[in-house]
Amino acid sequence: MASERTQVAIIGAGPAGLMLGHLLTQAGIDNVILERQSRDYVEQRIRAGVLEHWVAELLRDSGLGARMDREGLLHHGISLAFEEQRHRLDLTSLSGGKSVMVYGQHEVVKDLIARRLADGAPLVFEAADVALHEIGGPRPRVAWRGGALDCDVIAGCDGFHGISRPSIPAERRQGFDHVYPFAWLGILAESTPASHELIYASHERGFALLSMRSPTISRLYLQCSPDEDLSQWSDRRIWDELSTRLGLALPEGPILQKGVTAMRSYVTAPMRHGRLFLAGDAAHIVPPTGAKGMNLAMADVRVLAAALQAFLRDGSAALLDSYSATCLRRIWKAQRFSAWMTGLLHRYPGHDAFSRRLQLAELDYVTSSTAAATALAENYVGLPFDS
Ligand code: APR
Ligand code: PHB
Repeated sequence: MASERTQVAIIGAGPAGLMLGHLLTQAGIDNVILERQSRDYVEQRIRAGVLEHWVAELLRDSGLGARMDREGLLHHGISLAFEEQRHRLDLTSLSGGKSVMVYGQHEVVKDLIARRLADGAPLVFEAADVALHEIGGPRPRVAWRGGALDCDVIAGCDGFHGISRPSIPAERRQGFDHVYPFAWLGILAESTPASHELIYASHERGFALLSMRSPTISRLYLQCSPDEDLSQWSDRRIWDELSTRLGLALPEGPILQKGVTAMRSYVTAPMRHGRLFLAGDAAHIVPPTGAKGMNLAMADVRVLAAALQAFLRDGSAALLDSYSATCLRRIWKAQRFSAWMTGLLHRYPGHDAFSRRLQLAELDYVTSSTAAATALAENYVGLPFDS
């Protein structure tokens, strides 16, 4: 089959692939995005919902902020709940004026797809059997059922279960994996959020989180076991358990979606092999407690877009050569923060009274010491890029 040609072939139309495509198109670099699923599927997939301060700015600066600023919820604080009390952390005053934006990942995805189609930039949905060839040499190639592309660089943005990471020879990469002994049961409900801001609760019965998608849609989570049987969770039981753990009466409404999210930390290194560069969940997974998944994907592609511009426009490979190391510094700090938040708030199997006391002391410290609260806030709103 005759191949077409592009500069950058991007595998996957999640936040990482779509944002990379957008930044490259804006910089005048040709790129094609290949996505295995349908447009409907990726636009309906409910995932994370908190954007770090700089991500909201990047979306605005690149012409994608209008709907987010209209429909997203700008948050200046979060609360930690434990021992029947709620403690608010003022993220904005603790971080020198920053905030987070509550705006669903699938809304970001919809905005990016709409913009890409308006720009007339190529995006292939339902691309089956995508395979990467000659990634070690200067002319890599991507083939799928019905097409092929010759390119300069491949960006593997195809998530944790994609084909890009396994295309790197096993002996050329190292994986760092940690699986947590619990999971989250999440619901999306047509109900007024009981609080304007997120509440993270550490309760004797386990963790719970109150989040939201809009003034009429709540997103709520409960710690559960990794093999939890959803059929054991009636709507009644879910609402009661959430209310107990959050220490709050919750306005109830129809549950629109229910699911169990596994909790895992994973990093692959390096994030490059020859002309293949990994970004987003293809290279790393964080547990959802710190809300870092989508933000890290955005951080990777911000670095990658700048490096690709330097390489493809000016012939300078220095930024591409440092891409993996640059990203991994931020990724490991996000892993640290996510693991810390997870440990701070969850109930561990076999947790004894001593461990629980230490956890409560840490919660007390974080909510009463400005130094400790500042460290949480700095990470939550997004670490600066030069650290
Ligand atoms: N060929 C083409 N596309 C593929 C393939 C394949 N073989 N395998 C996977 N994909 C697509 C998926 O269908 C998905 O749309 O790649 C995309 C990857 O998107 P995400 O999983 O959303 O990953 P990423 O863009 O890195 O965004 C990370 O997603 O899982 C959340 O918490 C995570 O918020 C974070 C974000
Ligand atoms: C969400 O709204 O889905 C959400 C918010 C905060 C988290 C995780 C998930 O830490």
